[in-house]
Amino acid sequence: MEVVIAPAEQLAVLAADAIESLVRSNPATVLGLATGSSPLKVYDELARRHEQERLSFARVRAFMLDEYVGLAADHPERYRNVIDTEIASRVDLGPGAVQGPDGLADDLPAACAAYEAAIADAGGVDLQILGIGTDGHIAFNEPGSSLASRTRIKTLTRQTRLDNARFFDDDVDRVPTHCLTQGLGTIMDARHLVLLATGPHKAEAVHQLVEGPISAMWPATVMQMHPHATVLVDDAAASRLQLGDYYRQTFESKPGWQGL
Ligand code: F6R
Repeated sequence: MEVVIAPAEQLAVLAADAIESLVRSNPATVLGLATGSSPLKVYDELARRHEQERLSFARVRAFMLDEYVGLAADHPERYRNVIDTEIASRVDLGPGAVQGPDGLADDLPAACAAYEAAIADAGGVDLQILGIGTDGHIAFNEPGSSLASRTRIKTLTRQTRLDNARFFDDDVDRVPTHCLTQGLGTIMDARHLVLLATGPHKAEAVHQLVEGPISAMWPATVMQMHPHATVLVDDAAASRLQLGDYYRQTFESKPGWQGL
């Protein structure tokens, strides 16, 4: 696991560099997209490169991590719509190039199985962007999630609903109670995991993710078992890392050609 501690703007550039290098070497790259605040600067940087540097996503396919259950198709916080607003509509991703779990399906388990099959049919995810919840969730794999889980329905914790109330007029009761989410096993199948976390409220979760024992109580710790995981954090999110100085020193002395 590589840990990079840098200002948020630089983290976004590093993540965008990794994505750009994949897409330029394989225009049919499969990306994994996260919603929430953490990847927004990365999406801004990708949109800028598309506009100013002719970075094309015309053949890229993308899979979302998760979706709320039951939010109306036109609800602005439906993750499908958030991804369209934040990235898909700002670059040249083709129609139908982005897929997400169908939180409006009549048969939710069948929708989850179909989603797993769609990811497999695409050849799996090359690079998965992730954020982390204050309780250590990735996607919506809340504490207690099986480390081998696949796409399924989950109940959101009170903490996650409180954290996300800011997107629902600060009214926690408007935050859906359930979601469909890629499982930890699904996420672990992606070939490169790139997690972004900024702010002091993420410090404990980041400490557990990088330095804690692997445990379903901190689901993100499963990433310690991934052969290619990158954790991009600002000073505030890194403030509880025991080996912070070592991670800084390692990044400063990293060969320029190496990339993430
Ligand atoms: C969103 C997702 C979640 C968020 C996490 C952090 O698709 O999968 O795991 O990444 O809740 O959210 P932010 O980035 O808003 O702090």
